Amino acid sequence: MIKQAIIPLAGLGTRLLPLTSVFAKELLPINGRPGIEYILDECIEAGIKEIIFIISSKKIMIKKYFYSDQLYKKIIKKKNDPRIINEYKKILKYKKKIKFVFQNTPKGTGDAVLKTQKFIKNKYFLMLLPDDLIIKKNCSKAMIKVHQNYNASVMASMKVKKNNVSRWGIYKINKKLNNRNFIIGGVVEKPSERKAPSNNAVIGRYILPRSIFNKIKSLKPKKGKEVHITDAIQLLINDKERFIAHNFEGKYLDCGTMNGYINSSIEIGKL
Ligand code: G1P
Repeated sequence: MIKQAIIPLAGLGTRLLPLTSVFAKELLPINGRPGIEYILDECIEAGIKEIIFIISSKKIMIKKYFYSDQLYKKIIKKKNDPRIINEYKKILKYKKKIKFVFQNTPKGTGDAVLKTQKFIKNKYFLMLLPDDLIIKKNCSKAMIKVHQNYNASVMASMKVKKNNVSRWGIYKINKKLNNRNFIIGGVVEKPSERKAPSNNAVIGRYILPRSIFNKIKSLKPKKGKEVHITDAIQLLINDKERFIAHNFEGKYLDCGTMNGYINSSIEIGKL
């Protein structure tokens, strides 16, 4: 059973400067709600019971967002506004499920994952990257089903433009299972167009085995002094761990870039 999810939130968000100079990108409103709430809703609807946030001291405002009880209690006492009461209830519901761990130097997604090691209880866990919103269909829920059917690790995926492969983790298909699911033969982080094995990209949803922790430990920081989760996944594939790429049904919104961020409010507004 997949009951725990982890969300790396310690990134600096440089692609969204200047907004992120004083603000955590995951709290920026998308159609009136912080982006992170859409990710939390996806997790909870997929049956996740505990969500581990990996934050940094620079992004402590993310924790504060869920721990503003004094403020809510004071205002509710004074105003008794049903809207605020309702919002506070929602925050409390989220807070009950969230645990915080710290990654104070941003050393990549791999390093962020490692910070959660002592909290992960089951053989597999879910990871969601908060820049990637998937709307209209719950991607995590669909991936958990795939995981249960094949007893394998799973990554969300979609085709991207050939001239844009260097923005993504790119994988090679080993075997087609059906129209949406493929066994991965190998994966490489942000390859050049020339070196890319395909134009099939990994999107920010992963069902990972606990054995990934030891693989991350064996890696040295590479490009940009970061430890990439992609490299640890490749090591597991070398060890014959089965990874399935799941071409999700929902609509992908890239909230990590300014254009994508602006567009995400428009798309969610249409729902
Ligand atoms: C990360 C991963 C990359 C993946 C992407 C999906 O990159 O490292 O493999 O394709 O998320 O959004 P980042 O967006 O952190 O640069």
